[in-house]
Amino acid sequence: MKPLIAPSLLSADFGRLADEVAAIERAGADLAHLDVMDGRFVPNITFGPAIVAAMRRATALPLDVHLMIVEPERHIDAFAEAGAHRISVHVETCPHLHRTLQQIARAGAMPAVAINPSTSLHMVEEILGDVGMVLVMSVNPGFGGQKFIPGALDKIRRLRALGDTHGHRALDIEVDGGVSDQNARALIEAGANVLVAGSYVFGQSDYAAAIASLRV
Ligand code: DX5
Ligand code: ZN
Repeated sequence: MKPLIAPSLLSADFGRLADEVAAIERAGADLAHLDVMDGRFVPNITFGPAIVAAMRRATALPLDVHLMIVEPERHIDAFAEAGAHRISVHVETCPHLHRTLQQIARAGAMPAVAINPSTSLHMVEEILGDVGMVLVMSVNPGFGGQKFIPGALDKIRRLRALGDTHGHRALDIEVDGGVSDQNARALIEAGANVLVAGSYVFGQSDYAAAIASLRV
């Protein structure tokens, strides 16, 4: 499966976000990954729908919005209106996950669910048919530049098998955290087809070369 590369703007220069998102578009990115953090579900705070709308004006790339916030249902419509193409909510924040995913679809975005490293695949098994994508966290969410947790590889393998068993062959499996040219091939072989990379891409001066090095 040809991977989609989704640079995370979390590691971009926040003073020049519009330029940075335009730069990754020119460099061959497939999606722009936007990390929304609330200081409650995760320790860090980033940005809200106004910045997503500004990104929408700055690039033609689909916006992949990763909500690391409690009670995401209160904000889903605003993020969809701001131009989010995909919206991921964390299963750990959604007691009524099926309803929340329906809300995302109704708002016109692709429903996606994210799972922390400590969260079992059982938590998403029943709703695989209701999502376009599962986001497998390969670090504990909250910060860029953390070390890849190796257990994510086997989790991705098992998730791909689960999707196939349930007939969801087109399921996107996104991996987020510590992705680099050192593990991209193994992740793709395990069944991931959307690679998020923040510090790896923005830590290099040549974004195009960095993105190309993940397409292995
Ligand atoms: C972490 C975020 C990631 C982050 C990844 O909570 O969800 O998207 O930007 O950063 P790297 O690629 O540096 O691990
Ligand atoms: Zn993310």
